[in-house]
Amino acid sequence: MHLVHFPPSGLRLRTPRLELRLPDPGELDALAELAAEGVHAPDEMPFLVPWTDAPPAERARSAVTHHWRTLGSWTPDQWTLPFTVFLDGTVVGVQSISGFDFAVTREAGTGSWLGLRHQGKGIGTEMRAAVLELAFTGLAAETAASTAFADNAASLAVSRRLGYRPNGTARVRSGDTARVEQRLVLDRAAWERHRTTPVLIDGLAPCLPLFGLDPAR
Ligand SMILES: CC(C)(COP(=O)(O)OP(=O)(O)OC[C@H]1O[C@@H](n2cnc3c(N)ncnc32)[C@H](O)[C@@H]1OP(=O)(O)O)[C@@H](O)C(=O)NCCC(=O)NCCS
Repeated sequence: MHLVHFPPSGLRLRTPRLELRLPDPGELDALAELAAEGVHAPDEMPFLVPWTDAPPAERARSAVTHHWRTLGSWTPDQWTLPFTVFLDGTVVGVQSISGFDFAVTREAGTGSWLGLRHQGKGIGTEMRAAVLELAFTGLAAETAASTAFADNAASLAVSRRLGYRPNGTARVRSGDTARVEQRLVLDRAAWERHRTTPVLIDGLAPCLPLFGLDPAR
């Protein structure tokens, strides 16, 4: 599905195993089904907004409405691109990249989840590497930031492997509890030292104004 008037719909990232792009309606439905099947063990909560505590049907619907809301609130000063991740054509999860006043700050944020049955196979590392390539090579970022609860071993391991360094902690509210959040940051030099995954970026040029960037530069 390519909308001339919303160029990110034509943006694609490819790694050896994965494709990252916006989904068509049927693919978004498949993503919602994955959310319904489960994203983590019932006694865990990796997200600041505990959307996965809801019953499966509600969880599925919120995956859809959150996707639409995220795209619907896009501005060049504040954007989040929620890529759907495909492994051999099958929807496996979400990898988002975001920017807040990105043209000035040159810092990109990321967020992600995989269907439970797709976790622990290196997909999380490969999809994060894909959006880091978009950030540093495609959009000339200077830093990438990530945040995970201090007990989220998988997310922290992905960040460590890709070269992020710890950047402080914060006590935050998740549902009705206080949790400790670990902040991490990756600068360009560390990214270059840890860059091993080949990533192809397709369809970026028409998107640059929507990322707040001047296509002439
Ligand atoms: C976080 C997430 C995207 C990582 O993706 P993944 O495909 O499972 O991770 P990978 O297989 O690429 O593993 C990366 C590293 O994490 C480690 N790891 C994976 N699962 C782990 C676990 N449950 N406990 C400890 N380490 C784990 C792997 O051993 C690997 O470490 P290494 O690079 O040192 O070998 C995925 O686990 C997920 O969706 N989790 C639930 C939602 C979530 O936590 N989202 C992030 C919120 S901040």
